[in-house]
Amino acid sequence: MRVVHTFADARAAEGVDQALVPTMGYLHEGHLSLIHQAKAETPVVCVSIFVNPTQFDEASDLASYPQDLERDLALCESAGADTVLVPSVDEVYPTPLDPIDPGPAAEGMEGAHRPGHFEGVATVVHRFLTALEPHHAYFGRKDAQQLAVIRTMAHEHDLDVEIIPGSTEREEDGLALSSRNVRLGDDRVRAAGISEALFAAADAAEAGERSAAGLQAMVELEMQVRGLQPEYVTLADAVWMKPVGEVHREAVLATAVPVGDVRLIDNIVLSIEGSGVVVDRGIRLDAPSILYS
Ligand code: PAF
Repeated sequence: MRVVHTFADARAAEGVDQALVPTMGYLHEGHLSLIHQAKAETPVVCVSIFVNPTQFDEASDLASYPQDLERDLALCESAGADTVLVPSVDEVYPTPLDPIDPGPAAEGMEGAHRPGHFEGVATVVHRFLTALEPHHAYFGRKDAQQLAVIRTMAHEHDLDVEIIPGSTEREEDGLALSSRNVRLGDDRVRAAGISEALFAAADAAEAGERSAAGLQAMVELEMQVRGLQPEYVTLADAVWMKPVGEVHREAVLATAVPVGDVRLIDNIVLSIEGSGVVVDRGIRLDAPSILYS
């Protein structure tokens, strides 16, 4: 495995099909499953590790973002990455670099609560995709709105890359994996209430409840009894991330919840199949996450 610091060194040789797995480091099983998926589908896999300052709307969140490069490099190596790109801020942001408009998918939910966040995401991902020209790039479904923003941005900018989603990976009790989980401390147990509330709505959807009002109210109530206060609970269409009145085609039921000092997001994906609704709840680990080892 090569560890490089510039885009020029990370670029694949002419004609070689390269996949990119962009990350901000402090890797967990969600990242590793994206690397495994990329490895199974593409000859050369590049993982990038870059804590992107422009997508943090809170300085304290950036300052406390967990980082451990040595740990990440060992995990990348064991997952089979061919190249790990660890660029500097100057390499990623040469001046001048115009910000990229994240488009309409960025307007609600996270976009409404985190000003500038998706402009930062769209700009950094556009920079990586244009500088490295990977044929495939992998992003987790836990960040459903980010996935939608990146897909529409790549399409708008005619980028020759396939954006491939990976499943939401969950800890044993259902909490969606996030590098931020290591900062939860005593709030860790309470945080599992987020997925429990979403799964209660998933059960209701599979039993016939399709309305946004019904599903959102159920999540809010289930969170309330667990001492959680979501910033939003929204049923949105999975492509444009606009609120919908009921499940049709593919929809996400998404939420953001502050738990102590940590703000967590999660979602489930609901699709119509035949006359019913099927719900993708993600994949649960059957052992403690490597986040804590
Ligand atoms: O999902 C993330 O880790 C980041 O938002 C990404 C896609 C690597 C861009 O900085």
